[in-house]
Amino acid sequence: MLEQVQILHAEIARFQAEDQATLEAFRQKFISKKGAIAKLFAGLKAVEPAEKKALGSVLNELKNAAQEKFKVLIEQANTVTQTSGQPAEDLTLPPPAHALGTLHPLTSISNDIIGIFERMGFNVSYGPEVEDDWHNFTALNFPDNHPARDMQDTFFLGTDKVLRTHTSSAQVRVMESLALPIRTIVPGRVFRNEAISARAHCIFHQIEGLYINRHVSFVELKESLFFFVKALFGSRTKIRFRPSYFPFTEPSAELDIDCRICGGKGCKICKYTGWVEIMGAGMVDPQVLTNCKIDPQVYTGFAFGMGIERIAMLQYQIDDLRLFTENDINFLRQF
Ligand code: PHE
Repeated sequence: MLEQVQILHAEIARFQAEDQATLEAFRQKFISKKGAIAKLFAGLKAVEPAEKKALGSVLNELKNAAQEKFKVLIEQANTVTQTSGQPAEDLTLPPPAHALGTLHPLTSISNDIIGIFERMGFNVSYGPEVEDDWHNFTALNFPDNHPARDMQDTFFLGTDKVLRTHTSSAQVRVMESLALPIRTIVPGRVFRNEAISARAHCIFHQIEGLYINRHVSFVELKESLFFFVKALFGSRTKIRFRPSYFPFTEPSAELDIDCRICGGKGCKICKYTGWVEIMGAGMVDPQVLTNCKIDPQVYTGFAFGMGIERIAMLQYQIDDLRLFTENDINFLRQF
């Protein structure tokens, strides 16, 4: 047995590990429970009790030598793979952490906007993205072949169906189906046949608002929107109302805030004016109320609609609309 021990000592001392495979061969031969050294230990049982102790310590020495050598070989194998250009596998490293997802900036800004209107007593409604002509145009006072339909470059689907060009179509559905008074907002995707650029996209998101009750006035419209803008952008935000035109509101206005990208100095987002339009609004046209079977003699209301991308761009200082749909992980991780 002593002779065998000497042979194994010599073998262990000579052993060189070139790679992971030879390392494993060493482990199997000398370290594992079925290895040569383990076998020698098993052989101890048959040895005379008088010799057992001495032989046991010889075997323990051999075992220690094998384990020490194994450590050295692991080091060697690692440096060999490192210098040969392959990444060393360090089995003691913790596994890579799983990256957690974050909310898309459009989702978080929609949640913020919805939250502010919920505080004012609005609830949330939804409408279909494929609309009929009545809900997208006719009920909203766009007569057939009226040039106002050109305001929104429409994707037509067959003769009667369109991809909704604005969330105002859901206004009509809400007025047709909900009991009065109505105080609701409608977030959703809308579609327009536009060339994609830093400022425009063929798919974007809007949030529509609608309040119908007895004696609703323009003052309430203005106050609600002022409250909203200050809650979202901060109390120092400058706001201006400009007269405008929409077929479904009378009077109509557009609301601008001071450009937060350039601080009002002028940039490509505000077209060098210092102001950015963030929404359209107005008092619901009496004809629209009639179309939805609501008596305009008794009820009045206001409506507004805003583009969520535009608001997210201002809020997060993003100067290119295309970033929202490109799914660039480095962009999305910032939110
Ligand atoms: N629907 C209009 C648009 O898409 C916005 C709007 C909504 C204007 C409600 C007035 C009232 O431009």
